[in-house]
Amino acid sequence: MKISKILITTVIICLSAILAAAQTAVYLDVNAPVEDRVEDALKRMTLDEKIAMTHANGKFFSPGVPRLGIPGLMMSDGPHGVRAEINWNNWGYAGWTTDSATAYPALTGLAATWNRDLARRYGTSIGAEARYRGKNVLLGPGVNICRTPLNGRNFEYMGEDPYLAGELAAEYIQGVQSNGVAACVKHYALNNQEKWRDNIDVTVDERTLNELYLPAFRKAVQDGGAWSIMGAYNKVNGQHCCHNELLLNTILRGQWGFDGAVITDWGGAHDAREAALNGLDIEMGSYTNGLTTESAFTYDDYYLGKPYKQLLLAGEVPMSTLDDKARNILRLIMRTSMNGSQQYGSLASDEHLADAQAIADESVVLLKNNGILPLDPKAGKRVLVVGENATRNLCKGGGSSELKPRVLETPLEHLVARYGNVTYTPGYRSGKAMYSSAEEIPETELDSLRQVAVDLAREADVVIYIGGMNKNAYQDCEASDRADFHLSYKQDQLIAELAAANPNIIVANISGNAYAMPWLDRVPAVIQSWYPGSVGARSLAAVIAGDVNPSGKLPFSFPVRLEDNNAHAKGALSYPGIEDANGPRQEYLDGIFVGYRHHDTNRVPALFPFGYGLSYTTFSYGKPSVSSSDIVDTVTLTIPVTNTGNRPGSETVQLYVADLKSSLPRPAKELKGFKKVALEPGETANVEFVVTLDDLKFYDPARGGWIAEPGKFNLLVGASSADIRATVPIRLK
Ligand code: BGC
Repeated sequence: MKISKILITTVIICLSAILAAAQTAVYLDVNAPVEDRVEDALKRMTLDEKIAMTHANGKFFSPGVPRLGIPGLMMSDGPHGVRAEINWNNWGYAGWTTDSATAYPALTGLAATWNRDLARRYGTSIGAEARYRGKNVLLGPGVNICRTPLNGRNFEYMGEDPYLAGELAAEYIQGVQSNGVAACVKHYALNNQEKWRDNIDVTVDERTLNELYLPAFRKAVQDGGAWSIMGAYNKVNGQHCCHNELLLNTILRGQWGFDGAVITDWGGAHDAREAALNGLDIEMGSYTNGLTTESAFTYDDYYLGKPYKQLLLAGEVPMSTLDDKARNILRLIMRTSMNGSQQYGSLASDEHLADAQAIADESVVLLKNNGILPLDPKAGKRVLVVGENATRNLCKGGGSSELKPRVLETPLEHLVARYGNVTYTPGYRSGKAMYSSAEEIPETELDSLRQVAVDLAREADVVIYIGGMNKNAYQDCEASDRADFHLSYKQDQLIAELAAANPNIIVANISGNAYAMPWLDRVPAVIQSWYPGSVGARSLAAVIAGDVNPSGKLPFSFPVRLEDNNAHAKGALSYPGIEDANGPRQEYLDGIFVGYRHHDTNRVPALFPFGYGLSYTTFSYGKPSVSSSDIVDTVTLTIPVTNTGNRPGSETVQLYVADLKSSLPRPAKELKGFKKVALEPGETANVEFVVTLDDLKFYDPARGGWIAEPGKFNLLVGASSADIRATVPIRLK
């Protein structure tokens, strides 16, 4: 009796101790609801601890609450691999020997796969690397729309269509975050060029903003469930994006219900009061105000440091702004480093190389082929490889997406392995990878490199040209735009002269942007590939040799001339903007008619249209059927697609919607669905699309939002935006 009394008392004491412990440390209880943990942590924090959280304490770090055991945030670029370690307090590389990572294909390459499963695999794989490297926030993916082929950062984004970019971003983000690592979607918003990026004031009409430039971000936030987002450098409607009332308070938090953390681009904050009031959570920076030179100031001098504290103490901004920021940051920490089930991750593994290769395999786009491809290695031809990108390290340069890969293969080594009898000459030279200034290569040097190549071309059976762009300043590189739509280093002349010397030439260019092809008629085959990462070179060689049947499709249009791009057609105010006493400003005069929306509506044919890409096999599209010709909620369209050639291959079937009559002008067609199907020779797949009312809508500012007007619509099924294989009318009553 006595013993059992003692026992019961002991159990009660233990239980209440456990309960008390749980009560006093809800924030540490990984099984408690996240919001309870956040509130519990918040109420224990001092004013200074909260303020400390809202700004960096290192180049890629922001503090937690050391006293409470709440870890700080470790961030890393993104988006194509986990960047090598940077010094704590300057931009030098730390020189670690343990930070080599997998370099994945650039996001343009992912977009060219049109494959949601691969986007998920990309995110899962890169997220595991971030985890292993101890990162909580991976700075990517980027979903800014490709508005002009001169934008130096298009290679980090996913093309010109918000639906394509949004669909892939959502998968990528979920993949990353399955590791307990936050994705940070960037750069929100209207950062569609690098020229004047720090302070250009972008003006865009409400409809264009909503139809073109926001949907990929919205999908990243709502479908992808992104835990963080990065504000862009530029201004929108007069206010910097990192503390922009409209973008952050009204749209992101108000309309989309975003509950993650808003992080500045590095040095993107410019005003303490706006930063306090307009939805920003964490100020990151290069230096004190982030933009120019190193100074004696400390991280506490950031706008969200001492200046913010002064505003709070003077009552000029409410304390609730600070609690909201701290909540958002704590939530991010609870979702990542304190989620209790974070994985350990893995780094630079063979599995990750296989992921990177699978993406690269499906990213290569065959633009032209008169039959010279695939090039059979058994034919024993004497092959001449020309072009710097056959050997160049394309992970180097480009800005913040630069990588230190554990494995880095080149096209040349794979072509040598396949064809054996290979001679190589560069044909041109581009100089070193530099951030903001380009090395001028003397014309005479380019001329003599070209002459050597042309002479060798005469001796070869076939020439494989591997050139294009690179990550130098004014190429595909952050902080500057391209100066010219043509390929640099006199490559146009080089390709034309090589083709004249040897008509058996395969041009395989690597870039993250479209460029002019004045030599197109003179070459029998053109392959477009993207920054390949660690092992993408294998994929390129495999496509050339025919081991991989190309299945990539262009994520943006290739205009014939720069003026055929609508941002450029509309003059300097449209691109790059004009500069006056108030700084640079720009108006998106091209409105919603961006990319194929312009080419198809205004009948300006593209050289290669959005969604275009050839295969070594052929596909036929059969007769489509719809569940109903009247749409009430949804209509299901089914179309048989058959591989009519003699090789296995994959086709991306695209669904566009055309509104036949509307109160506001609409694009001739808009992408609303895509499916990639792998088919054996002779095999048929019934490809199904569910069309919803949302797919018929446009944004009407006068009527306050998205509306579908009754009337006739065409559902267009195509192999590209310009190659429509079936048209099905439907009606909305
Ligand atoms: C870039 C961001 C990048 C950050 C940190 C900025 O200059 O715009 O995309 O994440 O630097 O490297």
